[in-house]
Amino acid sequence: MERTFLMVKPDGVQRGLIGEIVSRFERKGLQLSAAKFMVLSEELAEKHYEEHKGKVFYEPLLTFITSGPVFAMVWQGDNAIALSRALIGKTDAIDASPGTIRSDFAVHTNFNLIHGSDSAANAEKEISIYFSPSELIDYEHTIQRWI
Ligand code: PPS
Repeated sequence: MERTFLMVKPDGVQRGLIGEIVSRFERKGLQLSAAKFMVLSEELAEKHYEEHKGKVFYEPLLTFITSGPVFAMVWQGDNAIALSRALIGKTDAIDASPGTIRSDFAVHTNFNLIHGSDSAANAEKEISIYFSPSELIDYEHTIQRWI
């Protein structure tokens, strides 16, 4: 069982795509472990994207990601990181395969709707930036009684 951090970006929230995006991960069979609707502070955004500091897209990315509310989530399941990245599609919508979120809904690389952790190390780091351990739901003792 693996956990990953996913976040509907301000463009996805503004376009009313939270439900569409969440439903794709539900239908895939991953489990929602935590969620938070929030506006990122400059400080939190810098921490999240610190590895990209200095790149040409860094400043526009920070401006964009702090421009409106985001829907931050933790999802869990076998191979949750790679499966989520497959559902999301490549960074540039032009390269994203048909049927992926970015191919189906995104137009620009800089407004690409959703973030997904790209490695186990980054998933751990990102989850810990956005959520405390007590906010992560453990289904072990809850859901098995009902489904
Ligand atoms: S890199 O250099 O290959 O590691 O970068 P990449 O993984 O492609 O992208 C890192 C994050 O920056 C976002 N990005 C951009 N934002 C704004 N404008 C432009 N031009 C741009 N290019 C890349 C990209 O979506 C990644 O953010 P996340 O949140 O991980 O999707």
